[in-house]
Amino acid sequence: MPDFCNYEGSDYKERFWTEERRYEDLVERQALARLLPPAGAAIADLGAAYGRLADLYRGYAQVYLVDYSRSLLEQARQTWGSDPRFTFVAADIRRLPLASASLDTVVTVRVLHHLPDIAPAVAEAARVLAPGGHYVIEYANKRNLKAILRYLVRRQNWSPFAAEPVEFAELNFDFHPAHISRTLAAVGLRVQERRAVSLFRLALLKRTLGAPLLARLDRLLQPVASLYPLSPSVMLRAARPVAGQQPEAVSGSRLACPHCHAALELQPEGASCQQCGRSWPLSGGIYDFREQ
Ligand SMILES: C[S@@+](CC[C@H](N)C(=O)[O-])C[C@H]1O[C@@H](n2cnc3c(N)ncnc32)[C@H](O)[C@@H]1O
Repeated sequence: MPDFCNYEGSDYKERFWTEERRYEDLVERQALARLLPPAGAAIADLGAAYGRLADLYRGYAQVYLVDYSRSLLEQARQTWGSDPRFTFVAADIRRLPLASASLDTVVTVRVLHHLPDIAPAVAEAARVLAPGGHYVIEYANKRNLKAILRYLVRRQNWSPFAAEPVEFAELNFDFHPAHISRTLAAVGLRVQERRAVSLFRLALLKRTLGAPLLARLDRLLQPVASLYPLSPSVMLRAARPVAGQQPEAVSGSRLACPHCHAALELQPEGASCQQCGRSWPLSGGIYDFREQ
């Protein structure tokens, strides 16, 4: 059993992304469109689920949608399967079947909050990024205004100012911005730009003002709000610096052995590693690298 939220067979798309969350969807798209380098050779969305954000990757020649849930990837494939730029990959994002230094951009939205320890996932994202590549993430911010107010009136026993993550529900974590910056820095990723997102996540406001207007207000306030984010969600772009001798540019498929990182031989029935001898199936258009 994986030690993170298992979405296999879940109705995530229908249950979570209802009309009531149109505001959150709009503001995340706004922020992602701003933070994402618009074009490149290859991008991976780690924890992509059914590919909610995949339309924003139109400038990329290769798009890897990675998720542990095969059922959600099947939904992604129904939408994007006819587009030859897309590869669908069932895998744990803490052990990526992607070649080192091979991607221009890696995206992780609404995923890190399900991991008890984000360091292995962040280290893998850094490994697969090419020098000069970008990691765009969204995380749940524990130092948000509601948590601060609740803490001040003693309705909450954990401090929103303490750096360590807080598990507010089983396998759901909020993070302090300093913890995120430190984890990125530990693997050589430098934060370039940060956006406070979902400033108006209040049911009453969403109902009375409507998602499009609130999203516009969110965008207007973001430059100021991002200086010291107190929003429930934060998105940022970090970069892997270009330094020293550059590795040879990777061309063709970016899939690689999740164990030894060697290139894979890709056949209609699956992928195999010539170096360590392991193999993985390809069925229904989805490569399955999950440990059995
Ligand atoms: C809340 S959903 C977010 C989906 C999408 N990024 C979005 O913003 O709509 C979290 C997703 O992360 C995936 N996930 C969580 N932990 C994972 C892991 N260790 N490896 C691969 N996928 C994971 C889940 O299967 C689920 O599809």
